[in-house]
Amino acid sequence: MFDLHTHILPGIDDGAKDLETSLLMLRMAAEHGTKNIALTPHVIEGEWLPDWERIVAACHRLQAAAQEHNIPLTLYPGAEIAIHYDNLERLKGPGPYCLNGGKYALVELPATHVPPFIDEFLFVLQTRGITPIIAHAERHPEIARKPELLLEWVRKGTLVQMNAPSLTGRMGEKTKAAAELLLSNNLVHVVGSDGHGLNFRRPKLDRAAQRITELVGAERAHQILIVNPKTILQGRRLDITVPEQIQSPRRSFLRNIKKRIWG
Ligand SMILES: [Fe+2]
Repeated sequence: MFDLHTHILPGIDDGAKDLETSLLMLRMAAEHGTKNIALTPHVIEGEWLPDWERIVAACHRLQAAAQEHNIPLTLYPGAEIAIHYDNLERLKGPGPYCLNGGKYALVELPATHVPPFIDEFLFVLQTRGITPIIAHAERHPEIARKPELLLEWVRKGTLVQMNAPSLTGRMGEKTKAAAELLLSNNLVHVVGSDGHGLNFRRPKLDRAAQRITELVGAERAHQILIVNPKTILQGRRLDITVPEQIQSPRRSFLRNIKKRIWG
C-alpha cells in the first residue's frame, strides 16, 4: 500500500520529534502493510516553512536509516501545503514541494472555512502544470455540509486524499460519515494516514484498507491504495471517473452490492 500523507520526517513540523520516533513510525507502517510512504511536512506561513532542499535531504537520510534498520519501505519527498497566496510562490511548476518532486501537490484547506480565493488557487496551480490534491477533505466542516463543493473542484481537475483514521471512526462519527459519503461517491482518489506520532495519529492504513474494500469493492480499493498513488508518485497522468451528482452512501452502497451480486 501507498501512504501519501505523513509527518514522519524528524524535527521538521509537529510530527515525529526525533529520528528514533521516525524509525519507530516507519516500522509500525511496514508492519501494517504499507510499502511506500510520501513524507509530507506542513508548509504553513508563520508556522513551518521548510526549504524543499531540506525536505529532500532529510528524506534521503531517513531512507538510509530505514535501510540500516532493515525496515522495508520506500520513501518519497513531498509536502502538505497550506492553501494560502504566499504558497503560490513556492509552487511555480512541477518539482519543488510536489509529491516526489513531480506534478501533484498535496494542499490543505484552513481547518474552519473555505477561503474565497480557493478556485483561483486551484486554477493557478493547474495552469502551472500541477494537479492539486485536497488533503483530508472529509475532515473539513464545509465539505461535510456541502460535498458538492468538492465535486465541483474534482470536475475541474482536482484530486482528493482521505485520512485513514477518518474512516475507522477515530476522528468521530461525523467525520466517518463524511468519509463514507465521499468514498461511496468516488470522490476519494488516494489515502494517507496523516501519521504524526506513535500514539494518536499513527501511520497505519490496514484497518481503513479493509473498510474501503467493504465499501467499494476490491477493484476500486486496489485503485485507491495502489494504482492511483503509484501513478501520482511517478508523475504520470491519472484518469478518474467523476460522478454526475452526490448520492447518499446507502444508495451507492446498495448499488455496489447489486453490482457485486449481479455483475
Ligand atoms: Fe497532515
